[in-house]
Amino acid sequence: MAGFETPPFSVISGAQVRGALQGREKEIVDLVEATYRLHGAGDTINPPSYFLRFPDRPTSRIIALPASLGGTGRVDGLKWISSFPENVAAGIPRASAVLILNDHDTGYPFAVLESSIISATRTAASAALAADWLSRDRPRPVRLGLVGTGLIARYVHTFLAGTGWSFDTIGLHDLSPDSVDGFRSYLARAEPSAKVTAHDDPESLIRASDLIVFATISGTPHVHDPAWFDHAPLVLHVSLRDLAPEILLDAVNIVDDVEHCLKADTSPHLAEQLTGNRDFLDGTLDDVMCGRVGVPADRTVVFSPFGLGVLDLAVGKFVHDEVGRSGDLHVVEDFFHEQRRHG
Ligand SMILES: NC(=O)c1ccc[n+]([C@@H]2O[C@H](COP(=O)([O-])OP(=O)(O)OC[C@H]3O[C@@H](n4cnc5c(N)ncnc54)[C@H](O)[C@@H]3O)[C@@H](O)[C@H]2O)c1
Repeated sequence: MAGFETPPFSVISGAQVRGALQGREKEIVDLVEATYRLHGAGDTINPPSYFLRFPDRPTSRIIALPASLGGTGRVDGLKWISSFPENVAAGIPRASAVLILNDHDTGYPFAVLESSIISATRTAASAALAADWLSRDRPRPVRLGLVGTGLIARYVHTFLAGTGWSFDTIGLHDLSPDSVDGFRSYLARAEPSAKVTAHDDPESLIRASDLIVFATISGTPHVHDPAWFDHAPLVLHVSLRDLAPEILLDAVNIVDDVEHCLKADTSPHLAEQLTGNRDFLDGTLDDVMCGRVGVPADRTVVFSPFGLGVLDLAVGKFVHDEVGRSGDLHVVEDFFHEQRRHG
């Protein structure tokens, strides 16, 4: 049957992924926006993520995110991402990942991509997209605060800067002084005009910031006092488990996907358990983008993105197509070998 051929199988390295994505923040944010709209319109399949945990390594996990994307760039696939926080002390990143892309017609996997960069990229692009849409009815924030200053925080800053944001002040808070020092040296190169302040406690950072990004590895809430948010900042709650339910119950809550976000002891999940309902949720980012939900300027807004596999697929397909266009795909010629049914 026409079109039903075994596709070539390629392996795409981290260096190739980075080459395809670097400096293209605006394009990637547009791609993520289009993917959220597709998801909102029901043209995706995004089952719950599966968490593999280990009794002998309780801080670590590997998550499987299967997904299917419709639309013009349709593709199926699986992201398989490890989080081993102890790696950081040994000098290697916490997260490592691969993404498998499957052909729509045959189901054949046609590419495996290094995916820690894709994951960080889609996470940061989603944060920058939310920062834009959720601040349209309020003065544009110029005081950024970052709680947790690791790799994801760096990508979020890169995506904010790459989509036109600049900040008068940038506050940093992390339990690890080394992380703060490393982030300072990144900012000295990336945004030398900003006044950078290290905060010993989250309270002073939160009170001094109107755009706050949480990118820690905290498993339970460590920010409890709604009064710290009296100035109604915009909060990108990327790490999902930093804020006590009381903070959310006092804020406008926007998520990427309701069913996904109310799982795995995220702060929205804790708020649902505390109240016994979902009334504290105002809607999804797609609801905001489509004008179904408004974002009041005088209230704290918290965006909690669970992180959807369909975003990884969209960015992974973009990378695959870019590398293919440049003629640099490393095809493994004999990968699919048993191709005649009866030999
Ligand atoms: N929502 C999503 O789609 C999504 C996607 C990717 C990553 N993430 C999350 O982003 C987070 C950050 O990832 P990363 O790769 O940057 O990790 P990382 O290990 O590079 O950095 C995390 C930093 O947080 C600091 N930290 C831990 N607890 C803290 C606390 N209570 N207060 C202040 N700082 C604290 C650590 O010292 C570390 O420097 C992780 O929780 C990860 O699961 C979310």
